[in-house]
Amino acid sequence: MDFIYGISEAVSKASDIDINDIKDYVEIPANKEMGDYAFPCFRLAKVMKKAPQLIAKELAEKIEKPYFVSKIEVVNAYINFYVDKSIFVNNVITNIIKKGDNFIKSDIGKGKTIVIDYSSPNIAKPFHVGHLRSTVIGNALYNIYNALGYNVVGINHLGDWGTQFGKLIVAYKMWGNKEAVERDDIKELSRIYVKFHEEAEKNTALDDEARGWLVKMQEGDEEALSLWKWFYDISMKEFNRIYDRLGIKFDSYAGESFYNDKMAAVVDEIREKNLLTESRGAQIVDLERYNMPPCLILRSDGGTLYPTRDISAAIYRMNTYNFEKCIYVTALDQNLHFAQWFKVIELMGYDWADRLIHVPFGLVSLGDGKLSTRKGHVVLMEDILNMSVEKTKNIIEEKNPNLENKDKIAEDVGIGAIIFDDLYNSRIKNVVFDMERMLNFDGETGPYAQYTHARACSIIRKANVKDYSDLGSIDASLISDDASVNVCKVLNEFTGKIQEAADKNEPYIVTRHIIEICKAFNKFYNENNIMNSEGAVRNARLAIVMAVRDNIKAGLKLIGLKAPEAM
Ligand code: ARG
Repeated sequence: MDFIYGISEAVSKASDIDINDIKDYVEIPANKEMGDYAFPCFRLAKVMKKAPQLIAKELAEKIEKPYFVSKIEVVNAYINFYVDKSIFVNNVITNIIKKGDNFIKSDIGKGKTIVIDYSSPNIAKPFHVGHLRSTVIGNALYNIYNALGYNVVGINHLGDWGTQFGKLIVAYKMWGNKEAVERDDIKELSRIYVKFHEEAEKNTALDDEARGWLVKMQEGDEEALSLWKWFYDISMKEFNRIYDRLGIKFDSYAGESFYNDKMAAVVDEIREKNLLTESRGAQIVDLERYNMPPCLILRSDGGTLYPTRDISAAIYRMNTYNFEKCIYVTALDQNLHFAQWFKVIELMGYDWADRLIHVPFGLVSLGDGKLSTRKGHVVLMEDILNMSVEKTKNIIEEKNPNLENKDKIAEDVGIGAIIFDDLYNSRIKNVVFDMERMLNFDGETGPYAQYTHARACSIIRKANVKDYSDLGSIDASLISDDASVNVCKVLNEFTGKIQEAADKNEPYIVTRHIIEICKAFNKFYNENNIMNSEGAVRNARLAIVMAVRDNIKAGLKLIGLKAPEAM
């Protein structure tokens, strides 16, 4: 039963107004004292030519109370509806049992494609904490759109082409050797890359040499390309190790180099559309009219640039995927870059320019002294993951030394804590890395949510059942206490939250709702003696526990966390 629909139907009958004009205005009051649903009459004042307060009063008298409503009340211009508690609980639980894994899913996105460009680290440079945010936010959005029935394409737009490779080749030839690179992978590559920059400050000829190597790469020079490929493979090996630990996969790894043979046609197109002008030898699209600096398309030596590759990629993606939205998850400091080339796409006459969406996020700063003292080095993602897992392991040793599979669980909880913390606030907010906070089992954290899930699992285990089908008769209408009603309420709101998270591209809406479910459940658990209850009531309570277990697990999966069954 869809309560909003039932209420709209009753209001529609009493007012003679089409149900479709009512449905969208039924509200869920934030304050429980104002009922479970409310219908504001302001909008009807014009049509009915009466004061909204009067309309509310008259309508309320005429409305035939739907069977699930226990009370109707008028407060000013609002008609408030109170849902009968036991009918509500029964309704939610029956619905969850019926839908199972599909409870949080919807098919609103059926037939539509969402492209998400995320993670996108740069080859031959370390995967640093800044890339973590893009990776976990992008992955959560991927899962959220997926749950709404969209066809989602996850793209890792690897930074695998550009001047940095020319520099790296020069650096390798001058200060590198095969053994060291084979031994230290990316660490060695970034060491010689840093050295290049130090030396190039003193000797500008190095930059020219680097550009020369990039031109060679572009011309297909064998030595240049084989070095490039070698650096690429070394980097991918490291990136994949991190993705595996985060449990993340991409549908496409078409990075910047993928567009090498596609850019000439795009540059021609920009030129044919009369958008290209010359400025100090470079080819640009002038954006002064839009209050932005010019978008650089070709360097004076003919080399392409980051925006050239993004423009080509967007056109390619549109042709390939016919996307509804193409989302770019990057740090806020790339705002201008995206605004500029989105504008170029618009000026090229593509009406889908408004489907390109930049989803920016704030900075990560390292609160933990230990990490920030490594001066001169970028903080490696892996060091952070390892540190969190190690700390989790210590907590487990202390709290639950006999736990089975300790290492696996420490990995799931330690990494989960970092992901959860990252997704707990609006993405634009800066994140301060604070392991103490992230790993607090009593805070609003990943470990707290995972622990609540494990607790639900343990109740079910102790009751010697596994699933709804093991419960026999369930009569949830026997349940009407506030704590139980509240659990059902938050469970019932979950799909709406997932939808809202997608509309705003804000995973934190899901993350916070998981915490709401956990809190409601912990209160329910403290107030209801599940093990000592009997018969249909016990079954109904266990059904609520199962519903919570399944929904926390599904929620954690959405944002990229595992849900261990014991902790
Ligand atoms: N490689 C870039 C960086 O590390 C991010 C790429 C984002 N995606 C894009 N299509 N521009 O800053």
